[in-house]
Amino acid sequence: MDPRKVTDDIYYVGAPDWDRRLFDSLIPLPQGTSYNAYVIKGQEKTALIDTVDPMKWNVLKSYLEHVEKIDYIVVQHVEQDHSGSLPMVLSMYPEARVVTNSKAKELLITHLHIAENKIDVIEDGSTLNLGGLTFKFIFAPWVHWPETMFTYVPERKVLFTCDFLGSHLATSSLFIEDERLVYMGAKRYYAEIMSPFRTIIKGHIEKIKKLEIQLIAPSHGPIYQNPDFIINAYEDWISDTPKNIVLLPWISMHGSTKEMVDYLSDKLVQNGIEVEPYDISTADIGELTMATVDAATIVLAAPTILTNMHPMAQLVAYWVSILRPKAKIYGFIGSYGWGGKTLDTVKALFSNVKGDLLEPVLVKGLPTAEDYKALDKLAEEITNKHRVLGLLP
Ligand code: FEO
Repeated sequence: MDPRKVTDDIYYVGAPDWDRRLFDSLIPLPQGTSYNAYVIKGQEKTALIDTVDPMKWNVLKSYLEHVEKIDYIVVQHVEQDHSGSLPMVLSMYPEARVVTNSKAKELLITHLHIAENKIDVIEDGSTLNLGGLTFKFIFAPWVHWPETMFTYVPERKVLFTCDFLGSHLATSSLFIEDERLVYMGAKRYYAEIMSPFRTIIKGHIEKIKKLEIQLIAPSHGPIYQNPDFIINAYEDWISDTPKNIVLLPWISMHGSTKEMVDYLSDKLVQNGIEVEPYDISTADIGELTMATVDAATIVLAAPTILTNMHPMAQLVAYWVSILRPKAKIYGFIGSYGWGGKTLDTVKALFSNVKGDLLEPVLVKGLPTAEDYKALDKLAEEITNKHRVLGLLP
């Protein structure tokens, strides 16, 4: 296949993955994803930025068969969905130099067994001249791993961003056709791999806002011709201010916990709060993860099974705690049959979250009038806290 023109001297050689349905063996991909790689042709040197997941090596190979020479292979991120085909590319172009930072060099050696003498190390802010085109490297740690970096081509005003600003979306078009789909695919990716690092990401956004950018070329999903679209979305997601939303992941075995969830939801909605319930037993964990980006409050709801909190709910609590969301308020409600250690588990699982843990409401069997009063109190506490946060009048 002929490489696909993005703009003058810059070509797409990546691969949509229409059929992939799970990322990191965790996050569903309803719209697939893509692994983007780019060929940049200077007057003297030709470079490849990133490769593709090895499952799609055949696609990259078919493009590269039309590229006579590759002088440099820039590795912006070592995770295998972008670097996994590097050994095959190096076999095709044995003279090519791998260009990356020192952290990535170490990871390329350990993760892919790339020979050390193949790798040239660059520094933050350093440049590489291709003849008429320049690469400027911008280190951007933690837009997934510690070695991630961007590449800017000032002559074409193109910024290559690896995972940053990318979206889980397979498309035929190189550029965005449906902003809504891209928004959801980008939020799905941001929520899983970048949201825990949002404080650091703020700095990266400030850095790239100083650049003149016409195109943002990420390593997943379509290319942005309107950079403001995705930069504005990120600014909203990384903001410290949560939204007037209660995220309510719940699971129920015989209906008692569900009854509590429905009652609490109704009270919160009556108080002017948006509620986002997710049935843990069937929910798309990617959607639930996206909801953690915005919610001011997260209330987990689960019954006790075999003397402890339902294991699926424990999984969600653990996942939420390592995502380090911006939520300021946490709660737990649930039911039990005869006893158990669920309250101890609530305290342990929520010990790392930054925010107030409200008094859990734990009910034996079906909720009684007293239990509904406790849920009323919980709803009022959440409402008052949303008011203090300025989320409610
Ligand atoms: Fe798309 Fe962190 O790899």
